Amino acid sequence: MNSKIKKIILKKNKSKLVSLTAYSKSIAKILDNYCDIILVGDSMANVLYGQNNTHKISLENMVQHALSVRLGVKKALLVVDMPKGSYNKESQALKNAKIIIKKTRCDAIKLENYKNNHKTLKYLVKNKIPVMGHIGYTPQFKKRFKLEGQSKREAHALLEEAKLIERAGAFSIVLECLTSYAAKLITKNIKIPTIGIGSSSYCDGQVLVTDDMLGLSGFYPKFVKKYANLDRIIAKATKKYTRDVKLKKFPSKKNFLNGSKLR
Ligand code: KIV
Repeated sequence: MNSKIKKIILKKNKSKLVSLTAYSKSIAKILDNYCDIILVGDSMANVLYGQNNTHKISLENMVQHALSVRLGVKKALLVVDMPKGSYNKESQALKNAKIIIKKTRCDAIKLENYKNNHKTLKYLVKNKIPVMGHIGYTPQFKKRFKLEGQSKREAHALLEEAKLIERAGAFSIVLECLTSYAAKLITKNIKIPTIGIGSSSYCDGQVLVTDDMLGLSGFYPKFVKKYANLDRIIAKATKKYTRDVKLKKFPSKKNFLNGSKLR
């Protein structure tokens, strides 16, 4: 097992795991100083490509962005989402997971759980592919957002799903939009770390879409905390640049390229 994955597992019950998404080198390089796990999420479909869901992002798109992110990540565990339709069958899943890992040198891939695909997960692990699971609100398969685990019965069904994924060999599992009761129940009853998004503080770690937490995406459900308002900072800088260009203040003499020096 990859030593970075071992470290992640060992942090359960010791130290909260920190995770964020990245789709490019520049952002990944900053996050790498703080995060345990950097995820190239298929949320890039919404965030970068302006789509209404994650269904049409391709394997090529995922690989392309993961290649960029790889250049910025030195310390964190790098996980790449398998896009919808790329793991319908065991053989197809293995072929595509190998492509992602070989081309991007990521440490692991993530699969959303659906019906019996813990069997696919097991097949991947058997073939030495490190896999992170994902249950609860799984945008690739559920059309409508719904808080999951609202009754005890539902919470226990989610626990059974998490156990299947654990037994299949996943090293960690994302819990998306679960009640605090369900998140606590699962976190206490499985050995692999749970990473929550909209699933309370009972999880072993937290993940957010970076553009949401930086105030850049325009998508701010209750479970997101905005740690910055980058939209305002970018607007302010753009306004200043526009004014300078119009008033011929930019470029000033000190920006002129005379002679051979570029910097
Ligand atoms: O695609 C993504 O960004 C994700 C996170 C929300 C966990 O799967």
